Amino acid sequence: MRNRISVFIDEEKLSPRYIPKNLPHRDGEIERLLSFFKDTLENISKSHLKTIQITGGVGSGKTCTDFRFAQILLEQAEEQGINLKHVYINLKLQGKSKVVLYRNILEQGASEIYSASLSAEEMLRRLVKYLQDEKKYILISLDEIDYFLKHTNQQIVYDLTRLNEINPGKPCGVIGLIVIARNTDFHQNLDKSELSTLGRNYVEFKPYTSSQIIDILEQRVKEAFRADALSNEVLEYIADITVTPTVNGDIRYALDLLLYSGHLADNEGFKHVTPEHVRKVHGETYHPITSEDIQNLSEREKYVLLGLVRFLKYEETPYTSLGEIRSSCDVVCEEYDANKIEKLEEIVQNLHDKGIIDIKSLTKIGVSGLAAEDLSRYLDNLIERVKSGMD
Ligand SMILES: Nc1ncnc2c1ncn2[C@@H]1O[C@H](COP(=O)(O)OP(=O)(O)OP(=O)(O)O)[C@@H](O)[C@H]1O
Ligand SMILES: [Mg+2]
Repeated sequence: MRNRISVFIDEEKLSPRYIPKNLPHRDGEIERLLSFFKDTLENISKSHLKTIQITGGVGSGKTCTDFRFAQILLEQAEEQGINLKHVYINLKLQGKSKVVLYRNILEQGASEIYSASLSAEEMLRRLVKYLQDEKKYILISLDEIDYFLKHTNQQIVYDLTRLNEINPGKPCGVIGLIVIARNTDFHQNLDKSELSTLGRNYVEFKPYTSSQIIDILEQRVKEAFRADALSNEVLEYIADITVTPTVNGDIRYALDLLLYSGHLADNEGFKHVTPEHVRKVHGETYHPITSEDIQNLSEREKYVLLGLVRFLKYEETPYTSLGEIRSSCDVVCEEYDANKIEKLEEIVQNLHDKGIIDIKSLTKIGVSGLAAEDLSRYLDNLIERVKSGMD
């Protein structure tokens, strides 16, 4: 049965973890990042730490551009006989606290002297001393700094922008600190002195336009799909979806659409991906309500949401009334052995405040961002997700 030819030659090339050597439409950003360090490499023994902020929306290429820029800078350093390393930390995954973050920096930047038992401050002191003694240099990228600062109030920006002051007289060996965030809202979590040391070197990533998305995807399609398995028409359709305000140029979403549409084409025995495959996948995967949103609801909010969604599904309608929600919720509560919902209006209002449901009027209550054509499939999927969040 599995003799059918797949539409793919190498689907790994659609993984967001795969960073192509050439990043179309980010040359300007890479050049700008390199320009900050031109003097640094020319005069490395007198270099001072530079701080740069990269901002831009989801999937606008911040992380992959930072990687690519660092690779080029390291190559340039090597040509000049400079021992430069890139220390990349994703603060969402590797920076639970200040001490964990500094431990990771030390481990990557100076593994020879790494020791897990040092205090946070001592780790930075040892790092700087090691770099100065050994004439080694590092560039630090802190990705998703907005996430870290929202969850801790530890002054990492203060510490890391002042590394030059640890053993003054000599440069600290850390040539640059690049902080990456979706936007500058994280400044609200910094105090005045931290903001001032962060400086004003910005590189802002604008969302990709439709034609830029086509260029980027064309390259990936060539590497991932068999020739003729994906037409220009399908590619343009994916680009159109990707530039809509809800997706807002997120290339990761476009890559997912390519991947899952290809799987669907394979499963249905097609030799090529059709616009209908893309349409189906888009309807199923795009949820303005994320799994995290659902997990963060209270039990009662989940019952009400499930009641609402089940009713919409059953009646095949995008909207319903408060009265209908009440009857549907009673059934849900019975099913889950829970007490009947009191103060339903308040809960409906909460769900509205959280952006989960839409209230047009008391007789017109629906789920946010629901496209009528995908109603049934969307609701099935949402019912499953709400139910699994109840366990
Ligand atoms: N210009 C580009 N050329 C080729 N691929 C790209 C380009 N920009 C982004 N990508 C692809 O999209 C994926 C997502 O990009 P990236 O992770 O850099 O986005 P991001 O801006 O860091 O998003 P987030 O804010 O969610 O972290 C990359 O791994 C890469 O595969
Ligand atoms: Mg990123």
